[in-house]
Amino acid sequence: MKKIPVGILGATGMVGQRFVTLLANHPWFEIVCVAASPKSAGKTYQEAVANRWVMEKEIPNNIANLRVLAVETDKESIVKQVVFVFSALDMEKDDIRRIENDYAKYVPVVSNNSAHRWSDDVPMIMPEINANHLSIIPRQQKNHGWKNGFIVVKPNCSIQSYVPLITPLFAFGPKKVVVTTLQAVSGAGRTLNNWPEMQENVIPYIGGEEEKSEKEPMKIWGKIEGEKIVPTDKPPITATCIRVPVEDGHMASIFVSFEKKPAPQEIISAWRSFDPLKDIDLPSAPHPFITVFEEENRPQTHLDRDIGKGMGISVGRLREDSIFDYKFIGLSHNTIRGAAGGAILTAELLKTKGFIK
Ligand SMILES: NC(=O)c1ccc[n+]([C@@H]2O[C@H](COP(=O)([O-])OP(=O)(O)OC[C@H]3O[C@@H](n4cnc5c(N)ncnc54)[C@H](OP(=O)(O)O)[C@@H]3O)[C@@H](O)[C@H]2O)c1
Repeated sequence: MKKIPVGILGATGMVGQRFVTLLANHPWFEIVCVAASPKSAGKTYQEAVANRWVMEKEIPNNIANLRVLAVETDKESIVKQVVFVFSALDMEKDDIRRIENDYAKYVPVVSNNSAHRWSDDVPMIMPEINANHLSIIPRQQKNHGWKNGFIVVKPNCSIQSYVPLITPLFAFGPKKVVVTTLQAVSGAGRTLNNWPEMQENVIPYIGGEEEKSEKEPMKIWGKIEGEKIVPTDKPPITATCIRVPVEDGHMASIFVSFEKKPAPQEIISAWRSFDPLKDIDLPSAPHPFITVFEEENRPQTHLDRDIGKGMGISVGRLREDSIFDYKFIGLSHNTIRGAAGGAILTAELLKTKGFIK
């Protein structure tokens, strides 16, 4: 099968580097363009990321010598070469919104950035949870007068560690949720080496993160009504987000109360059987989606973040609580499931559903 040519906007950053490694041997997609700021443009990819390549794997050979293009000034050349682009830009939100809109006039844009997450005709997709929201795309294209292009976003990395665990429990009516996330430094595009303040330290603040962690699940669990995706208001979530000194992997401590309190075994079997993509053949979908640990000391960041090649969600320490009904611990890989890998899975879903041709 001839592979679909794709471009990466923001290819030199932390998430961009993940795209480059995850797409190296992808069976459907092939990177043909890498783009970044004017500072990187004109260099080979290898030169542009010299001294800041942070992936475990080497730069793939076919990418190392690609000439980096400028996201803004080389747009016309980029859209001619690709069928769609992934966006991993980090700039002012207004600039990203404008750039992503400019590209969507020509090609689909699958974005990691939050600039479009609250546009009410832009689906914010976790493929296992709200694939049905893709049906808003024709409406979005009509609203903007776009023929082939559109924008789909993925949610914030923090929520992948608890939304996939609460969703399978909807049959029991989750009433309220308290979550505390323990987030890796790569979530800020940094490493422990280049962030000395994080050595031997915990910082109880991540700008804007608690609001995203509380609000974004409501859109994901929302419904399409007429021309928009309308967020739900249940179950309410209150979140605390803390930066911890690990390189990759966001952990979450979750407390939930239910309308109908289930037995622990009912929760475990709801998690184990939740695999909505099991009958669709998507190369990046992990099976199982959720890995349940019964050992007391799992999941652990270092041992378990790579489950399902970094696309699986793990959970453990399910126990009853004296104030809420239950508490448990979730874990996901923030730059794979929470960023580049989640966006690639979304693109695979878009191709399978005929939105990317
Ligand atoms: N890290 C995570 O775990 C994570 C998870 C989910 C979502 N995200 C989101 O993903 C996006 C990328 O995050 P990151 O951590 O990869 O950021 P990053 O490491 O700072 O990388 C930012 C990228 O944007 C490019 N860029 C910056 N200014 C630009 C400009 N004026 N014109 C064109 N390109 C420009 C950079 O190019 P140069 O190298 O040339 O400067 C670089 O390629 C952000 O929106 C972030 O919120 C990150």
